[in-house]
Amino acid sequence: MTDLSSQIAKQIKKLLSGRQPETLLILGSGLSSLGNELENSTVIPYSKIKGFPVSSVVGHEGKLIYGTLSDKEVLCMQGRFHLYEGYAPRIVADIIKAFKLLGIKNLLITNAAGSLNPDIAPGSLMLINDHLNFSGFNPLIGPNDDKFGPRFPSLAELYTPKYLKLAHKAAKKLNINLFDGVYCMLSGPSYETAAEIKALRILGADAAGMSTVPEAISAAYCQMKVIGISTITNYCTGVKGGNPSHEETLETAHKASANLALLIKQIIKELPNG
Ligand code: HPA
Repeated sequence: MTDLSSQIAKQIKKLLSGRQPETLLILGSGLSSLGNELENSTVIPYSKIKGFPVSSVVGHEGKLIYGTLSDKEVLCMQGRFHLYEGYAPRIVADIIKAFKLLGIKNLLITNAAGSLNPDIAPGSLMLINDHLNFSGFNPLIGPNDDKFGPRFPSLAELYTPKYLKLAHKAAKKLNINLFDGVYCMLSGPSYETAAEIKALRILGADAAGMSTVPEAISAAYCQMKVIGISTITNYCTGVKGGNPSHEETLETAHKASANLALLIKQIIKELPNG
């Protein structure tokens, strides 16, 4: 037990005192308040876990919260690690592997994203049904540990088809409009040029953001089921006059967060046990 993921898992396991979460919830920019709704919760600041990086972005809290949501045991990352902060892509894979060692089976991941699709307006929620990894990196680059997954993992069903249906069913029940779309990850931190957005739209992107893909790839590699939801916070550069800013992102994410919280709670309620 000397690798980083084992070290991290060992420390978190101790702090969980025998409780067994099955679902990991990762909350994105301006969406972190849901973490405070967990019941019977234990809060673990990232700084208390040796080997865990500390998130540096405003709007990203940097805490692991363990508790129940919709009567299910959930572990929540309030704050994540972006490539643009300078983290090695591999650290994301190490963290996801640590969660795999802790028995996590599902990843429910959220982010704030810009829209390239004129039909998906700011304030909307979009279920990620596939992605374009234009970040320039892959979190699995480096030596492979066969105990977690294969050297060349398939991403054909990364966004678990059964769970896409489940998410739509949950949205319908709540009367929440949930779009379907392709999420494109760019490294950031600069927003895109209008020419880049035009090109990405031709290539099939509906939303653009600076996160999620490394976690999703790492989770699929570890045979976790993945659900990804984007809160559309703005039109991307040049789309309907879009000129994004972090302030706009946080403000719109905050406005949409009540609907997102309802949807996440309903999805968690409907996730099968075991
Ligand atoms: N582009 C990239 N990332 C983003 C955007 C955007 O327009 N909005 C929120 N995150």
